[in-house]
Amino acid sequence: MPTGRDPGPLTPLEAQAEHATLASEIAGHDRRYHQDDAPTISDAEYDALRRRLEALEAAFPHLKAAASVSVGAAPSGKFAKVRHKVPMLSLGNAMNEAEARDFVARVKRFLDWPAEKPLAITAEPKIDGLSLSLRYESRALAYAATRGDGAEGEDVTPNIRALMAAPDATIGIPATLPADAPDIAEIRGEVYLGHRDFAALNAKQAETGGKIFANPRNAAAGSLRQLDARITASRPLRFFAYGWGEMAGMPANTQFGMVEAFRAWGFPTNPLMARCESADDLLAHYRLIERERPTIGYDLDGVVYKVDELALQARLGFVARAPRWAIAHKFPAEKAVTRLNAIEIQVGRTGALTPVAKLEPITVGGVVVSNATLHNADEIARLDARIGDFVVIQRAGDVIPQVVEVVQDRRPAGSVRFEFPTLCPCALKTPVIREATSGGAEGAVRRCSGEFACPHQRIEHLKHFASRRAFDIEGLGEKQIAFFYDCPVEALRIREPAEIFTLQRRNEASIQKIENFEGFGKTSVAKLFAAIEERRRISLERFIFALGIRHVGETTAKVLARAAGEWPAFEAQAKRIAAADAEAIADMQALDQIGDAVTEAVAEFFTRAEAVAMVDRLAGELTIIPAEKPAAESPVAGKTVVFTGSLEKMTRDEAKARAESLGAKVAGSVSKKTDLVIAGPGAGSKLEKATELGVKVITEDEWLALIA
Ligand code: IVH
Repeated sequence: MPTGRDPGPLTPLEAQAEHATLASEIAGHDRRYHQDDAPTISDAEYDALRRRLEALEAAFPHLKAAASVSVGAAPSGKFAKVRHKVPMLSLGNAMNEAEARDFVARVKRFLDWPAEKPLAITAEPKIDGLSLSLRYESRALAYAATRGDGAEGEDVTPNIRALMAAPDATIGIPATLPADAPDIAEIRGEVYLGHRDFAALNAKQAETGGKIFANPRNAAAGSLRQLDARITASRPLRFFAYGWGEMAGMPANTQFGMVEAFRAWGFPTNPLMARCESADDLLAHYRLIERERPTIGYDLDGVVYKVDELALQARLGFVARAPRWAIAHKFPAEKAVTRLNAIEIQVGRTGALTPVAKLEPITVGGVVVSNATLHNADEIARLDARIGDFVVIQRAGDVIPQVVEVVQDRRPAGSVRFEFPTLCPCALKTPVIREATSGGAEGAVRRCSGEFACPHQRIEHLKHFASRRAFDIEGLGEKQIAFFYDCPVEALRIREPAEIFTLQRRNEASIQKIENFEGFGKTSVAKLFAAIEERRRISLERFIFALGIRHVGETTAKVLARAAGEWPAFEAQAKRIAAADAEAIADMQALDQIGDAVTEAVAEFFTRAEAVAMVDRLAGELTIIPAEKPAAESPVAGKTVVFTGSLEKMTRDEAKARAESLGAKVAGSVSKKTDLVIAGPGAGSKLEKATELGVKVITEDEWLALIA
């Protein structure tokens, strides 16, 4: 029972001890009340315990951070989802010095900044871990979330609190922020594991028969995403703050100043961050970090450059999922030499046959590599790779390892040339075709001509469909898809996406049940059905992405979904494109970042009767949620605008990017379809045309006032 003594005079240790006892007592009462329906104390007594806990936490705020661990419930079996108030973006890459210089030049051009004038850009290590967003409300940690798909992450608050409360805590995340911090502050950064801690963890895992991690990043991710926060707390994870999400106020007006403020608030920040003034400065700092890399004690995969002034960052804005004001200058890939034991053919979702090098396993950059891509037949010929050869392989970050060259003077006498198959390795042995490129020449890619008849293609298609970024069906991974594709009970097979959604009905009607097969149980089957049901409602953008149309990645799918609004509208447009309707094609190509490749792929997909029928069956099982049109509130959303003459307050690129981000289409010439012409000094024929057609013409200032 609470002592009732004023917590003020308690020593921190006494307070901590009492807090821990109280927390576990309360947890016990919570369990008996909520789960067992068998409380052992009165409500008034319970309230007194709670008040005492709160009094302790008010006097010793750091105890609050530890609270939800000790009070927290048993692992839930799943993380709750958190929608990020400000999306968590990724970065574009520069693979060499020339591309890094291009970045600086591009930024200056966009801002109309004289090429020779210094421009402050920061350079800091790119930590190879996983990003984390920490939200503080009224200066107390409210929740912590992983990046997830950038829009929605996983709530890992109990794990972060457990790390903060661990006896030898290394995470360094403060539970509260000082009084000068704003009311709402989302601090973002990277969670990582040091080399020494990684080696010790793997040694312990080996001893206890636990999972061995491939590299520190996987180990950090695996450790943070534990359902049992106590396991997370036992891993010495660390954190560097480098960015932010929603902020109710800004402590600085530069990138560098923001990070300094984070440091002052108690966050670990990277000591190798520098403010540079030119591309030469940035590259000098890059080389310095590269020199430190072998002894720094944690994995880096490059250097991130960020325009320092936040006002300039705002002007530069974003392209797709990455800011225009930042870039990751990657370190060169790591290389190793090993033997090429065999070449196998894999058939992808679109039927492309990819040769895969089966290698004598070797460690490259801390990861054991036994497969590498050889891309296509031309690449094998270019490398002159023969089975038995010694080959140089390279691995860069997340990228699939590649064979870069053959060590010619180590070629063994018996090395064997590889004959590229002319038939698909699937059971149907369909002929392989070599497509012509748009220029008419023979393309490099060989494709199985079986399309939907080819089981390899169908399986790959199903894998893509159920994958995390598409329908994200938990419990329907590669293994399960392979099982359902060839299920011995025909009534339980899944051979196309629609059949995922009829599986439960079919299982109920079947005498032989999924739960009776090895690898499944009553619980896992119930969970699978629940996961499938959860996805019966799906956003239009995920739906379009999941269809697996060539060249339609997540970003493109989002653009298409937003433009179409609803599925029937998209399908109708796609069918018109398939019928070579010039207007439909032009409409799609007018969208940001959409060109021939996408419209041709859409046409190809929707000319196949089988594909259309399959999509219709699928759509019949689902509720497809229309795309949000966030830009609709903007007065220029959906409008076609034309800029002409010279602009004085912004560059042409900037004006175009801004207009597009507000949902407008920026056209190059004036026509009947133009809604608005923004004319600056020196406007000529376009202005005349606009007057002639009666299109509304405004000045740059009027435009700025309109979109303000
Ligand atoms: S800034 C809007 N800075 O790299 C810009 N990212 O490729 C957001 N990362 O998801 C990122 N170190 O997980 C930034 N110093 C650093 C970083 C860093 C590592 C990771 C981060 C991000 C990914 C993007």
